[in-house]
Amino acid sequence: MERLDKILSNMGYGSRKDVKKLIKEGRVLVNGELIVKNDYKIDPYNDNIVVDGIEVEYRKYIYIMLNKPKGVVSSTFDPVNRTVLDLIDQEYLIFNPFPAGRLDKDTEGLLILTNDGKLAHELLSPKKGVDKTYYVEVDGYVDEKYILKFKEGIILDDGYKTLPSKLEIIEPDYISRVKLTLKEGKFHQVKRMFKALGMEVVYLKRIRFGPLELDDRLELGQYRELTKEEIQLLKEKR
Ligand code: URA
Repeated sequence: MERLDKILSNMGYGSRKDVKKLIKEGRVLVNGELIVKNDYKIDPYNDNIVVDGIEVEYRKYIYIMLNKPKGVVSSTFDPVNRTVLDLIDQEYLIFNPFPAGRLDKDTEGLLILTNDGKLAHELLSPKKGVDKTYYVEVDGYVDEKYILKFKEGIILDDGYKTLPSKLEIIEPDYISRVKLTLKEGKFHQVKRMFKALGMEVVYLKRIRFGPLELDDRLELGQYRELTKEEIQLLKEKR
């Protein structure tokens, strides 16, 4: 059981002081009963709470799929750049979500934002090796010959040999189009893997993260909450 004022404050109804006032003003019903005591104890998951005639849907965690555009950084604060949180509405920011992992400033695509620290940690743990798939455009002719190289591992500029990764060729050309699936996420990894082969990545977009595919209805900069099924899938991955 939790204090009514604490729950309402957690749900974004203001500071404890604001919420106390709101309760005193008789604007809150719990299970149909008017409650004016701010330390009234409730079960936030099972009691029906109504503020100003609107039912409060209590939840502790939030899970968002964002189609990250170029030009924003994957952190919660940056003194210079816009961050992915600048794209998110206040109704979600009250949960203090943060990005589970990073995409470079110039990378687009699927980024999960959540306040479920345990899940985020596990999804990013190198031990779990969650698959991440990228759509890549590369300045260079990438054909079937490269599939084995990626499978065997590529030695990066710092001497690190990457784990086996899966290269799928969409179209070899001067600018080749491929998909690459990695089980790890070293700094600038995709770009550095191609660099090690003498080629430059000119466009990069993450299209899959573990069991989740980027929802193609999301325009760049748009986001949506994960469905219950998607959250379940992510959790099963750990
Ligand atoms: N690899 C990169 O080089 N950049 C990203 O943003 C993600 C993977």
